[in-house]
Amino acid sequence: MITYHPQRLAAALHIADVNRLAVETSVMGTKALVTIYPHDPLARVILADPEMLVMDARGRIWIGRYHNGRPSLLRLYDPASGSAQRLLLFGTTGAGKSTAGQIILAAMKRSGIAVLYADLKGGQSAPEAFGQAGPGLDGNVAWRVTTQEGTMAQLRTTWLTMMDRQERYARLGRSKFLRDRPDPLIYQIIDEANRLLEKGAPYRDEATFYIKDIGRTGRSLGVGIGLFAQAGHLEEMGGSDTLRAMLKEGEVVLLRWTSSMMKQLVTDGLLPAGQVLAPIPKYAGEVDLVSQFDEEHDDSDLPGTQGTAYNVNGRYPTSKMRFWNIGSSEPTEGLDPEVLDLYGPGAPPEIEEDAWGLIGDAYCQRLDGMEAYRAVFPEPEEDEDGEGGGKKKSGGGAKAAPSPVPAAAAKPKARTLRDRIQSVLDAHDDPLDALQILELVNADGGRAVKLGSVRNTLTAIRN
Ligand SMILES: Nc1ncnc2c1ncn2[C@@H]1O[C@H](COP(=O)(O)OP(=O)(O)O)[C@@H](O)[C@H]1O
Ligand SMILES: [Mg+2]
Repeated sequence: MITYHPQRLAAALHIADVNRLAVETSVMGTKALVTIYPHDPLARVILADPEMLVMDARGRIWIGRYHNGRPSLLRLYDPASGSAQRLLLFGTTGAGKSTAGQIILAAMKRSGIAVLYADLKGGQSAPEAFGQAGPGLDGNVAWRVTTQEGTMAQLRTTWLTMMDRQERYARLGRSKFLRDRPDPLIYQIIDEANRLLEKGAPYRDEATFYIKDIGRTGRSLGVGIGLFAQAGHLEEMGGSDTLRAMLKEGEVVLLRWTSSMMKQLVTDGLLPAGQVLAPIPKYAGEVDLVSQFDEEHDDSDLPGTQGTAYNVNGRYPTSKMRFWNIGSSEPTEGLDPEVLDLYGPGAPPEIEEDAWGLIGDAYCQRLDGMEAYRAVFPEPEEDEDGEGGGKKKSGGGAKAAPSPVPAAAAKPKARTLRDRIQSVLDAHDDPLDALQILELVNADGGRAVKLGSVRNTLTAIRN
């Protein structure tokens, strides 16, 4: 088995700039390929034409290139199985997650993918990824939110859309998602996902539930999910094993990390143990020691390595790649015109109209904050069974949804626990245990119930 220490190898080969050295190992670890470049091969990675971002026939987008010039591809869709993917972008602050995210979002817009984008840095992460103000209007994503509440509204909207598709496809006798026939591929993207999922975050448990369920059920319904996060918080993001398992099966891209992050990723099984990935230094170029007695030294800034990454599920997991270098070289006053060009003009793809009745105002009016939250999560009901008392407000998003839509979304209040459990069972093919049913029932927007009641009702249903 070949093991090596990147820095020691560079020193032994008298290479002062480790970025000139590329080491790849085979999966078995029995072979290694060492390439020494005269200059940093990833110094300039230029996207010749935004049209190159369009998804290919095999569902992959071209996100950048490897040190050896080969294209680095990211799968968004698998036409053979009709499945959407789970994307994970990990890296420390400043590693280039949000910028890489813009490349992916632009590729999605150009490829006919409807995107719900939550930026938990208040909209600062990717200002050019602005959302539509309403159906048919210009925007670079279908719906952008910048608050925790807005993110929860998006997650629920994505989940309801997924449930709606499940029903509709079942009626059509379809077992697979067929892209754009008639529904578009949808992605729910959350930038700074750690802020939503870390301990103490206000919606941690609910968010975990939705992410898990979208990750589990959305694939075959054309609903994908993407999380961008500082992986140092991974332990906090892995609060549940199911979430961890979901992350593990995702398309993982690893940007510059810290040592604690790397350990965490391996412990959590997101990266294969024993696989050596040479660290990504913060700066490119030779870093020399300067003594106080050195009269002359060059203290100009070294170029950064932002956007350099390992595409862990790509063709060459141990090869360094770099995302396209995008945007103007100097910071711009407002939105960066070069980034806007990546997306191209006009309206982005949107969620299918079939689902609008169910998903309601939060999406249709592109709300954010508490307003969005209230539109999709009906307030708890005062009286026990809610018979007839449920319609106090009009236009209340999901509440106004017509039946025969699935999963309790339509009129959560006027339903008995038995109805609610039945919809959960109907919506899921896999066997569920009582705890999972409890979780799903409690997430349907109706009043919270206890495990005991679920168990009792299950017994009643069984009989
Ligand atoms: N692919 C890229 N092309 C050009 N500049 C980049 C790229 N990735 C990162 N950068 C630069 O690095 C800075 C930090 O990147 P950002 O995407 O905000 O990192 P993160 O989201 O991981 O904190 C950006 O403002 C940008 O100037
Ligand atoms: Mg960011």
